[in-house]
Amino acid sequence: MKKNKILVTGGLGYIGSHTTVELINQGFQVTIVDNLSNSERFILDRIEKITGTRPKFYEFDLTERKKTQNCFKENNFDAVIHFAALKSVSESVKKPLEYHNNNIKSLENILESMKTHSVRNIVFSSSCVVYGQPNKLPVDESAPFKKAESPYAETKQISEKILEKFTNSNNNISAISLRYFNPVGAHSSALIGELPKGMPDNLVPFITQTAAGIRDRLVVFGDDYDTHDGTAVRDYIHIEDLSKAHIAALERILYLKNENPYEYYNVGTGKGYSVMDVISSFEKVNNIKLNYVFSERREGDIEKIFSDNKLSKKTLNWSSKKSLDDMMRSAWNWETSINKKIK
Ligand code: NAD
Ligand code: WQD
Repeated sequence: MKKNKILVTGGLGYIGSHTTVELINQGFQVTIVDNLSNSERFILDRIEKITGTRPKFYEFDLTERKKTQNCFKENNFDAVIHFAALKSVSESVKKPLEYHNNNIKSLENILESMKTHSVRNIVFSSSCVVYGQPNKLPVDESAPFKKAESPYAETKQISEKILEKFTNSNNNISAISLRYFNPVGAHSSALIGELPKGMPDNLVPFITQTAAGIRDRLVVFGDDYDTHDGTAVRDYIHIEDLSKAHIAALERILYLKNENPYEYYNVGTGKGYSVMDVISSFEKVNNIKLNYVFSERREGDIEKIFSDNKLSKKTLNWSSKKSLDDMMRSAWNWETSINKKIK
């Protein structure tokens, strides 16, 4: 049987590398494009080590129109999974133009190349950030976009709008946006995982780096939220569960099961955990006492968000399997493995 050829943009990054492994394991043929702006080349070796297959790799910037077109010309892709983007909320506030240019221009180049080379399917990495602080929890896909709280969030809202308009005007192209909640954890092999460059922005890499002695202590931002223990609540989702959602979305459009040219789904567990729940789970499963202090709320943070995942369960036939403890165990296994092998 012919293997479907999938272009994975940002395939050496955190979510892209795990999804590439899942795609190869499911029999897809993967080509990766990445400019290594937030990833390392050795991840390609790790993907090969896990799967026994080395994906074809192009190193270039997707904001370069000609290179993007050429890559599509040289390959006969059946679908694209578009991960490549800049993703730091705080950095985006300092560099709004860079975020807009990188995230929107690359999407435009990809869509234009898809049109030129008759590639009919795209799965897009969106985020729960499009909702801001929703009026109702759990938040479902019918919730309106709130005013974007950062340039990063704005790029996701604009990208979704572009995809909706583009697919509605190009009858033969289908798109699915997956709105991830908070992806955490690492592959069970501990050969790939989240690899932040410099100071981590996000909670879980900060926890693991603190436990590893790379950071002195974790600062918990805010203990006076209206939540069960005063710390902010999020919907953490294991990276391996998240990767599988991409296969479900991809198969829906590849095999023409989608009802609309543009569809969008929440990808979360449906459960909200506080920062203290995450710390307690990490300490318990790894038998580690974490050094942490409480401080002021972080500017721009919302109090709580967690997903209504009924639609992805029903329509994509996808659901999360792994627990918060699984997430914390795998995150620590990965952290200890990179400290041993990379540094
Ligand atoms: P990541 O930074 O680990 O991976 C992104 C990859 O894309 C990196 O390898 C980077 O080098 C590459 N890249 C960026 N811009 C590029 C460009 N112009 N050309 C070529 N390559 C480029 O990030 P991630 O956590 O794997 O996130 C993947 C996607 O998921 C992003 O679109 C992100 O916005 C979205 N997302 C992430 C989270 C999260 O918490 N990690 C949550 C919601 C949505
Ligand atoms: C989680 C909780 C912090 C660090 C971001 C993006 C969102 C999406 C996921 C891409 C919050 C607290 C954190 C620390 C802490 N990414 N925290 N100390 O802010 O929910 O979402 O990542 O689309 O768009 O905004 O994730 O991991 O930064 O924070 O107390 O050192 O942990 O205040 O309550 P967040 P996060």
